Amino acid sequence: LDNGLAETPQMGWNSWNFFACNINETVIKETADALISTGLAALGYVYVNIDDCWSAAERNPEGQLVPDPKTFPSGIKALADYVHDKGLKLGIYSDAGIFTCQVRPGSLYHEKEDAELFASWGVDYLKYDNCYNLGIKPEERYPPMRDALNATGRTIFYSLCEWGVDDPALWAGKVGNSWRTTDDINDSWVSMTTIADLNNKWAAYAGPGGWNDPDMLEVGNGGMTYQEYRAHFSIWALMKAPLLIGCDVRNMTAETIELLSNAEVIAVNQDSLGVQGRRVHSSGTDGCKQVWAGPLSGHNLVVALWNRCSKAATVTANWEAIGLESSTGVSVRDLWQHEQVADDAVSSFSSRVDAHDCHMYKFTPNTVSHWEI
Ligand code: GLA
Repeated sequence: LDNGLAETPQMGWNSWNFFACNINETVIKETADALISTGLAALGYVYVNIDDCWSAAERNPEGQLVPDPKTFPSGIKALADYVHDKGLKLGIYSDAGIFTCQVRPGSLYHEKEDAELFASWGVDYLKYDNCYNLGIKPEERYPPMRDALNATGRTIFYSLCEWGVDDPALWAGKVGNSWRTTDDINDSWVSMTTIADLNNKWAAYAGPGGWNDPDMLEVGNGGMTYQEYRAHFSIWALMKAPLLIGCDVRNMTAETIELLSNAEVIAVNQDSLGVQGRRVHSSGTDGCKQVWAGPLSGHNLVVALWNRCSKAATVTANWEAIGLESSTGVSVRDLWQHEQVADDAVSSFSSRVDAHDCHMYKFTPNTVSHWEI
């Protein structure tokens, strides 16, 4: 969507994966504080996004949405002011149907007044869900909110949460700044890998202004191992997915902070070229030895060696698979070890990777073919 936003994928936090409906204004404020104190905000995680359950069960007599008076007694404007004072941005949630998924009022047929209300509160981001949609096609339900947001004059990031039902990658580029390509993630290896594979299919449709959204991060929520979370974070970064933290940032382990704070992996996600990396090779049982790769600015490439097998394995990236001439010399930087691991590798690069772990590298060809310059 050409609204000046999403030149790179959005980064921030969202309440749903960890808190679900157990949210209140204190949690949101403490999260904003924690994003600052942990250094995550300085790394780019600036959106503080409130998901479902912020609103009361009914609109007020004037037809406006009302923050739940028990959990958000100070209102959303006060929260927006709070996060803006810290240099952060506030996101909110509604639904392109008559109710949200947790049966709060939806915005279908209320697009104009709701968009105006959000803008008047100083909201910077809208996640727009797909429940209770009366069976109307998403292509008809999502553009009215885009137009309503645009008409407010406030610049608001528009995140479509259509779950990939009607192949949004094919039509949402002109509608939103990102679009969910799949059903909800959960905090498990099976869910995370399934979603990565589904999202991979739509790689060609992502780019500056609009990104495929394989759902929010589960890193730090406890259902996967350190290696699995490293794979999750690496592949989301490589796929140019939104990096929306989904854990309780007030209570992170050192490992969780280390994963989410890897500036070199974040730089892959935020690379100015904006091309979604994809799976380029798989081998082994059920294709469990995988190479994912994509181009970066400055003739660099990102290459991930992802071992989805149940035992440690050697995973190899052949130059042919990643689009290089086999004679090209490549310097290889390990983005997790933060060190140069090869100066002039030719034809292939291999690494021993633990079960379910993912190594990630920046490849810099030492010579660039003349037709690429
Ligand atoms: C849907 C969305 C989730 C979350 C919940 C909230 O399931 O896909 O991301 O927003 O609704 O109810």
